Amino acid sequence: MTKTEAEKLLKKCNQEHVLAYWNKLSKTERDALLRQIAQIDPESVNRCANALSQGVKAFENSKGRAPKVALLKGKALAAAKAAGEKELASGRVAALLVAGGQGSRLGYEGPKGCYSIGPVTGAPLFYFHARKILARSIRYGASIPFYVMTSEANNEATVKCFEENDYFGLNPDDVFFFTQGMWPGMTKDGKIILDAPGHIFMSPDGHGGLLASLKRSGALEDMKKRGVKSVFFFQVDNPLVEIADPAFIGYHTIEKSEYTLKLCAKRDPYEKVGMPMKFGDTFRMVEYTEMTDEQCNRKAKNGDLYFLYGSPAIHVFDRAFLEREASKPMPLHLAFKKIPSLGPDGKVVKPSEPNGYKFEKFIFDILPNAKKAAFLAFNQKEEFSPVKNANGDDSPETCRRDMQAKWRKWLSEAGVSVDESLPVEIDPLYAQDAQDIKSLGICLFADI
Ligand code: UTP
Repeated sequence: MTKTEAEKLLKKCNQEHVLAYWNKLSKTERDALLRQIAQIDPESVNRCANALSQGVKAFENSKGRAPKVALLKGKALAAAKAAGEKELASGRVAALLVAGGQGSRLGYEGPKGCYSIGPVTGAPLFYFHARKILARSIRYGASIPFYVMTSEANNEATVKCFEENDYFGLNPDDVFFFTQGMWPGMTKDGKIILDAPGHIFMSPDGHGGLLASLKRSGALEDMKKRGVKSVFFFQVDNPLVEIADPAFIGYHTIEKSEYTLKLCAKRDPYEKVGMPMKFGDTFRMVEYTEMTDEQCNRKAKNGDLYFLYGSPAIHVFDRAFLEREASKPMPLHLAFKKIPSLGPDGKVVKPSEPNGYKFEKFIFDILPNAKKAAFLAFNQKEEFSPVKNANGDDSPETCRRDMQAKWRKWLSEAGVSVDESLPVEIDPLYAQDAQDIKSLGICLFADI
């Protein structure tokens, strides 16, 4: 992009001040700034500025009802599993991981997927995800292409982690990395923030940025070429997730759903998970911050919480649905943050109070657009224990505890007794459940 092109682009969104320090910049700084400007979509910038001046209309959720959530057992479970196995064996399933987050709560330098979580081996989060995909594709004799969304900040380190670990056994041709978009931060009056004379403050555009970047990168096209129909979506911080779980894929297929969500019973009324609610004929995800005390505590006739089931962000999408949604603008979510910015004297100020806005898109905002959505209950203990915080709840410590509890349960069901004091780890390639351990009749574990 040339300076004239940059000026034209910035004029379209009233952000000409971005070039205010042009004359003071070196050639390298000018080139870097032009590269940043080239990433800006004037229409999106105008949307962000309008959201600040007009406010984002809060959705009225008081009339929301709890959705019907399926609990699969017996014949229904067997039928769903068989349907999912058929999809997997036909190569119609892909895995989609969002790993572009900044992981600020964990405070780990580098991509969260590289964080060491294996209780015995210290293997990174990516290891468990990749090996589960590999194990499933071996079992069903068909590849499961793996799409990994990174951000500009962590893409290089993510790819390096896969390369250094030989893609954890996966075929590199089946792994597709793509980076999510970045959006500029803005002052309260809708002006793009510079955090250096030749640099725009930008942050990742949220996991909802997935749709636009799936399209831009060619990942959606790649899925289509490979004949993918169902896309299993998951987050990087949860090594307990059952990737491309056949029963879940099968339930999605049988229901002819476009967007199917796994939901788990909340641990307490105020657990910080989104809550899908029904409004007329459509569903919408209501964030925990948007629920009233009354909604959090409302009881059903059987004494359970009425809004019992929350979403841990484990989804199956129809590829065609993602394709349909990829070109539509998504709702904006605003976060008021402390953003380093240039003062009037051209010097950088690190504010002690929030001074500007970051903008994000959330993937679950496409839920109301699904022609058909479905919800499946699962046991939180077995499939969800995210690494969010450095300590306390949802930390590496609780996650390792829950990983081991799951593996110990498999071992015990397979008739293997384990000394409680020994750490346990099972390679997903060795066993995907208790049945695998039973049929293999051996067990390799322990840190001696
Ligand atoms: P979180 O909301 O937990 O955010 O992301 P985070 O960035 O990982 O952690 P904090 O909030 O800074 O501590 C949930 C999932 O969405 C992905 C994350 O990588 C994680 O898998 N994500 C989040 C993205 O891919 N891009 C984003 O812009 C935000």
